[in-house]
Amino acid sequence: MTKNDKFKLTRRTLLTSAAGVATFAAAPRLFTPAIAQGAPLKVGMMLPYSGTYAKLGTFIDNGFKLYVEQKGGKLGGRAIEFVQVDDESKPEAATDNMNRIVGREKADVVVGTVHSGVAMAMVKVARDTNTLMIIPNAGANDATGAACAPNIFRTSFSNWQTCYPAGKVLFDAGVKNVATVTWRYTAGAEMIGAFTENFTKLGGKVVADLTVPFPEVEFQALIAQIASQKPDAVFSFFAGGGAVKFVKDYAAAGLNKTIPLYGAGFLTDGTIPAQGEAANGIKTTLHYADNLDNPANVAFLKAFKAKTNNDGDIYAVQGYDAAALLDIGLTAVKGDDKARDAMIKAMGDAKIDSPRGPLSFNKAHNPIQNIYLREVRNGRNEMISIAQAAVDDPARGCKIS
Ligand code: PHB
Repeated sequence: MTKNDKFKLTRRTLLTSAAGVATFAAAPRLFTPAIAQGAPLKVGMMLPYSGTYAKLGTFIDNGFKLYVEQKGGKLGGRAIEFVQVDDESKPEAATDNMNRIVGREKADVVVGTVHSGVAMAMVKVARDTNTLMIIPNAGANDATGAACAPNIFRTSFSNWQTCYPAGKVLFDAGVKNVATVTWRYTAGAEMIGAFTENFTKLGGKVVADLTVPFPEVEFQALIAQIASQKPDAVFSFFAGGGAVKFVKDYAAAGLNKTIPLYGAGFLTDGTIPAQGEAANGIKTTLHYADNLDNPANVAFLKAFKAKTNNDGDIYAVQGYDAAALLDIGLTAVKGDDKARDAMIKAMGDAKIDSPRGPLSFNKAHNPIQNIYLREVRNGRNEMISIAQAAVDDPARGCKIS
């Protein structure tokens, strides 16, 4: 038995014992006493701190910690301590990493992650061990769909949610033929799928569906295909380092002058400083825009800049809101996370005045939120309009009622 297995066993025994005294009595030495209410709550941050999504993970981490600092290091009166695991956006290591954070590190709550494939492996462990989990980015539809669970929340988006409204945006702009381009993994497939669902329903046509494996950034072959196909527009999903490279390559080939580039907002969020001029004019849909002038956003951007010397972005907002959601849950139970049902109820009912605008949750614990149409102007993602207000993911396959 490895050290990890032993901790998994300890945890499971603990959970079983909550349901049946017999199990508890039979294995007294495996029982770890519940953390006294006054002891710090251990938050496990499982995020990419390296690789193509490193900046995204770091901004989520900073956003979460900014909120905790603003609350004097406590949420719901309970001191917070952190443990951190770099998941490197590697799905093949995700189950072991999550078992480590839940088992050996004994995190009370896990906050993670960015990559959809890694998140789905985490969801499975969270369900098996009944660990409270808050997803601060990954959009995998199933996390709040077929695999939904009372103990799993998301403060970001579903992949469907960010891109479905874009189908109408492009169609209304007079675009008839589109080439789509993305990485070949869950997030890319689901975002392009949602865009295509709406765009083709309205009468648009997808003339090329181009992909490269994640996290490859060799885009020349795709760009040559787009140039020869000459669609009315391109719709894309890339993020982090890959988005920087794609936008620069697209402009270097001169395509930004002839074929408008659209995408999920991740294409230009947190990436404009590295993309420079190449990003100008790109239109995207997302649940955030830099110039939202609601007081929550203005205060957030100021505080984030003061803490990190960086401009905030959607990833920082999602991390910040993950802490706000945990705060609401812990406040409802006066810091006692073992009062799990009451905590989950308060989190499910939460209405957050987020920097992104009003944020609430559906029965599957996915955000209900505005999706904005933005354009890169003056080095920022500026809001043009609300593409679709209060968008609610259909939560296909979710059995929570
Ligand atoms: C995802 O894998 O779900 C994902 C990753 C990065 C993003 C958005 C979604 O910016």
